[in-house]
Amino acid sequence: MKFREIGKTGIRASVVGFGTWAIGGDPWWDKETKDEDSIAAIQAGLDHGINLIDTAPGYGRGRSELVVGKAITGYDREKLVISTKCGIIWWGNEGAFMMEVGGTKLYRNLEPHSIRTEVENSLRNMKTDYIDVLHTHWQSLPEFPTPISRTMEGLMQLQQEGKIRAIGVSNCDVAQMKEYMEAGRIDVNQPPYSMLNRGIEGEFTNYCLANDISIFAYSPLEQGLLTGNFKKDYEAQPGTYRADFIPWYKKENRVKVIDMLDGWKDIAQKYNATISQIVIAWTYCQPGITHVLCGARHPGHVIENVNAGNIELSAAELTRMRADIEALGAPV
Ligand SMILES: NC(=O)c1ccc[n+]([C@@H]2O[C@H](COP(=O)([O-])OP(=O)(O)OC[C@H]3O[C@@H](n4cnc5c(N)ncnc54)[C@H](OP(=O)(O)O)[C@@H]3O)[C@@H](O)[C@H]2O)c1
Repeated sequence: MKFREIGKTGIRASVVGFGTWAIGGDPWWDKETKDEDSIAAIQAGLDHGINLIDTAPGYGRGRSELVVGKAITGYDREKLVISTKCGIIWWGNEGAFMMEVGGTKLYRNLEPHSIRTEVENSLRNMKTDYIDVLHTHWQSLPEFPTPISRTMEGLMQLQQEGKIRAIGVSNCDVAQMKEYMEAGRIDVNQPPYSMLNRGIEGEFTNYCLANDISIFAYSPLEQGLLTGNFKKDYEAQPGTYRADFIPWYKKENRVKVIDMLDGWKDIAQKYNATISQIVIAWTYCQPGITHVLCGARHPGHVIENVNAGNIELSAAELTRMRADIEALGAPV
């Protein structure tokens, strides 16, 4: 497993991280989530070389963090890099209404006192004394009502107290990153990024590279479509995130994606790897992408994904794969 520094923090995290959105059991997913499977999945990741776990209070309204807390019990805390988030609350109605999930109303709040409450809850949920990276959860869509400078004051206070080691943001554009950097220092941004979703390439990745801001790419597998384990006749269930938000799951698009993945079998064979592994390896080799957060709910998937952390694709393979990806064009 390769490890890379997060921003300028000195914290070294595995290039493949474990994403815990699905294990929160939100209705975005099409299968029931069993906590014992989730715990086994996280532990399989840790036992096979991952040290980065990304969670959020919002994933299952605390459930994901509680599962992480159970899974990491007994592991050497100093070796783990725990990343969680703040800014989406459901226990009150202070802030801006965001959306309703599973009958619960979510509000966006990045006032320092609310962040502090969230951090105290996260520490309790995960039975730990500190959080390695705290991200503001969803900066855009629309702006948070709290000015970034005030949010940053609250975050830096928590950092001084040792409750958080590094400050991160997610879904935050370049203008917003600049505002954060004027008020203090962020070491990570967490945007969506995959072969099929490369919107951050260019100004965004260049800004992060120039300022030593790590990029934790989320949804790098497009929720499984890029693993090579989805068949052409897979139909995403209506109402799930796959069906409602990822146009690549539409039949005419997914068939093209799966054909593209099939065309890389020779590369996979060369590394004795699976398609999922070479997709992950391609993703963490892109300029500015320092870490990829792969979600999973079963030990088998995690072990497959973790082993991508050892693959070194050649420059010619990276270029060939990019040419195929670009040839796909936009989804219809
Ligand atoms: N900051 C943010 O706003 C934000 C937003 C989204 C995600 N994230 C983070 O990024 C993480 C990853 O994103 P994601 O969960 O959306 O997407 P992802 O990593 O692209 O896909 C995860 C899903 O793909 C399937 N999968 C994974 N490995 C597989 C394998 N080897 N074979 C077959 N299927 C496999 C699993 O589906 P099943 O579970 O159905 O089997 C899994 O839940 C999240 O967990 C979260 O930590 C952050």
